[in-house]
Parts: sequence; C-alpha cells; structure tokens
Amino acid sequence: MKYIIFNWKSYLNLKESVKLSKIISGFKKSKKFKIISAPNNFFHLALSEKFKKNLYATQNFDLDGRGASTGSLDISHLIENKIKYTIIGHSEMRSNHGENDKIVSKKLELSINNKLIPIVCIGESLNIYKSKKTKSYLRSQINTIFKKTEKYDQIILAYEPLWSIGTGLTPELSEIDDICKFLSKILEKYTFKKINILYGGSVNLSNISEILNLQFVNGVLVGSASTKSSFIKYFK
Ligand code: 13P
Repeated sequence: MKYIIFNWKSYLNLKESVKLSKIISGFKKSKKFKIISAPNNFFHLALSEKFKKNLYATQNFDLDGRGASTGSLDISHLIENKIKYTIIGHSEMRSNHGENDKIVSKKLELSINNKLIPIVCIGESLNIYKSKKTKSYLRSQINTIFKKTEKYDQIILAYEPLWSIGTGLTPELSEIDDICKFLSKILEKYTFKKINILYGGSVNLSNISEILNLQFVNGVLVGSASTKSSFIKYFK
C-alpha cells in the first residue's frame, strides 16, 4: 500500500477543493493507495465535515500558538477538531516562515505526544545536490529532527529535494530509490511503530507510475499536479 498525499498548498479556493474532494470520495476503498489531502488550512474543517470518509492533513501548525498569538494555528485546535495528519517542515514553511530542523523536531514531538500523525519533510538544496553532499545533509537533518530516546508512533517522512519542488526537475529514479533506501537505513537507530518514506517534488502523470514502482518509496507527496482532476483520477 502506497501513501498518496496531495498538498494543495494555497492553489485552490474552497469550491475547487470541494470538487477534488468529491472525486476522491467517489473512489472505491483501495488496498493499493491511501489518499490524504492537505487543503489550505482554512478549508480543512469544512471539507472534513462534508467528506467524512476522506483523509485530510493540515499543512502546518504553530508552536506556542495559543493565547495572545494573532494569526497562529495551535496544535490544540487541531486536536480539538480531531485532525489526524499534519505536514511539518515543508520547504515553503522553511523558506517563507523561518521553520528549521530544531523547530521541526519540537513540532514532531508535540504531534507524536498528541497522537497526530506527522508528515515530516526534508530535502537538500541544488547546491548540496550538485556538490554530492545530499546524504550527509539528510543525515544531519534526521539527527536534528529525531531523538534516540523517543519511542515514535507512526511517522511519514517525505524526501523532497528543494530544487525539485515546482521546477519540473526530479532526481533520476535510481537516485530517488537510493536516497529512500539510505533514509530507511539511517532511521534504524530510532524507534518507530511504523515509518513510511515518501518522495515529493515535481511528481506528475508522466512519472507517477515509475516512482510508485520504486522499491524503497512508500508513496508520494504531490503539489501542483494534485490540483488537477486528471491526476487525481489516476488513483481511482
Ligand atoms: P510540486 O509537486 O508542485 O513540485 O510540489 C511538491 C511539494 O512541495 C509537495 O509538498
């Protein structure tokens, strides 16, 4: 079974998000795919109320977002509203809102303690990729984010090379598989009930089947392509 996560970012309005959710809600229960959509946080509750069988993730939450914190989304609001999944550490939260691996680590701990399933994003810049330092960079991200003393429940880890997000560029298929294999190896020193490693970055209709066929890839995190009904229908 492969995880298929649609990150709708802030591409869609409510009407468009409803339209795509309706398509997903019409799919037969599948043993092949587990589909989770991450709509704009503002639409999350309206959609999960309307499409009760669909799975939804928030795109983020804030640390210390309760009380005098204008504009924040606190984890307590997620829990109160029975939200099951949350993306943490997406590259756009990192570049636009100063999120870093230390913050990601704190958010991870909070989400685990509150039984929210985290979708943790990591990935290297183009410079790091070009200088062939991807593995050592990812290793240092993992070591900052995860703790050996923690017993983690279910975690989804998404490998999203920053240079691949929204560019139409992807690593070679063999590189994606090799990195996901490497990640599962270095994660062995941590304790997880369940860990799934996904690939994200310029996944589309022309590369989806090859990526999903890779041995060490447990699914995909898809941005812009996932806002198209033609792409979504691939998973029916
Ligand atoms: P694209 O699929 O648009 O490259 O975005 C990837 C992404 O950021 C998913 O979280």
